Amino acid sequence: MSQDSIAVASSVDGNSSSEGRGLWSSRWVFFLAATGSAVGLGNIWKFPYITGENGGGAFVLVYLACILVIGIPLLMAEVMIGRRGRANPEGAFALLAKVAGASRHWRWLGTVAVLTGFLILSFYAVVAGWALDYAPAALSGGFAGLDGESSGALFGALLADPWKLAGYGSLVLALTLGIVGLGVREGLERSLRFLMPGLFVLLLILVGYAATTGHFMQAVHFLFDADFSKLGGQGVLVALGHAFFTLSLASGAMMVYGSYLPAGTSIARTSLLVALADTLVALLAGLAIFPLVFANGLEPGAGPGLIFVTLPIAFGQMPLGQLVGGLFFIMLAIAALTSAISLSEPTIAWLSEKFGISRFKAVLLSGVALWLLSLGTVFSFNAWSEITLFGKTFFDSLDYLTTNLMMPLGGLGTVLFTGWALSRKTVQEALGIEQPQLFGLWWQLLRWLTPLGILIVFLHTLGLF
Ligand code: TRP
Repeated sequence: MSQDSIAVASSVDGNSSSEGRGLWSSRWVFFLAATGSAVGLGNIWKFPYITGENGGGAFVLVYLACILVIGIPLLMAEVMIGRRGRANPEGAFALLAKVAGASRHWRWLGTVAVLTGFLILSFYAVVAGWALDYAPAALSGGFAGLDGESSGALFGALLADPWKLAGYGSLVLALTLGIVGLGVREGLERSLRFLMPGLFVLLLILVGYAATTGHFMQAVHFLFDADFSKLGGQGVLVALGHAFFTLSLASGAMMVYGSYLPAGTSIARTSLLVALADTLVALLAGLAIFPLVFANGLEPGAGPGLIFVTLPIAFGQMPLGQLVGGLFFIMLAIAALTSAISLSEPTIAWLSEKFGISRFKAVLLSGVALWLLSLGTVFSFNAWSEITLFGKTFFDSLDYLTTNLMMPLGGLGTVLFTGWALSRKTVQEALGIEQPQLFGLWWQLLRWLTPLGILIVFLHTLGLF
């Protein structure tokens, strides 16, 4: 996956010309890379816990609507902008704006996108570190005989230990930037080929286990019965923010990946497949987790600790649980790593192309900054847990700022840029959809329904209607 982008981008070495940036070796590799970016902690960790916090079915329905009406059209637009611009997000916006004769200030959308990805990575790495702690614990039988209470205590102990959190978080950052910096070309692409299907199969096994031992139907009702009285305005915004987060939108990731996409590949088809795979993994994660939550008398709205508390109970009891549990957390760590790579690539491409520094320097520079910032998230769970802004810890604030504010606003800007600043002809050529009706459908969606959807959610959240 992104080792291609790495290999290609390293040949740029500081100049922003499109020659020499290189391309993915095939459409399949792009699909793997984009799916590797999309499928991550968002699907397996975040989706279940925010669904729990926001009351279930109605939230899921709004989330699915957001994916369809906002996520997919925007995903296509971002890949298109990247491919047409053949540069880092700021460079791509700048180029397209120039060609269209639009204001040069559109480029700020790219800069903000890069910053969003950077901020997300600083807390994403810490959470991914939890999986690194849980994998060896599972393999060594550490989950045997856990119940709701002792499992909660185990997770609480991890969060209370800043050294462990910082250690694992640093390890994730080092691995991410090491891979991005060195460009392990074969390794990552090859491993993705079996890791992503592997994760899928493990999820199916867990769903099977949950179906046979947990309160499966209660979970199905929880996930799919839409009771809108349980969903507040805040919940609608969370659903929208998550649609952005889970598809890696409004943060430069899909744009940068699109910038390495060969001409002639169908952006529409590939984007649809990526969104489909991503949604499937999230729903399967919900079906694996909630039956166990209910069977063990746990609280679905428990928050960020949800999967780290419930799944270990299952692993401690099921046959072969040590192995399945170990594999699960290893896979989760790897799914997180492929996402983390996509989160860092925009920053690296931006630093090296904009400031003309080498890729190596860009990696070092962002590594130091990310590491420092990640400590804020680490301390949110222990030393600084009492220090809050509007009732939110540093981690919660960062998550809220990026996912619920920066991503929707950045996404809105990108949609308006594509639908209103660029001409229909430019966009149609850049997207390369042959069927005019299909293009027309997407174009109208992008110009009207997508921006209106984002706006409505915002105004709704502000309590304006
Ligand atoms: N989509 C990933 C997930 O669901 C997270 C992610 C990867 C991401 N790249 C991103 C989120 C870029 C925002 C922006 O876990």
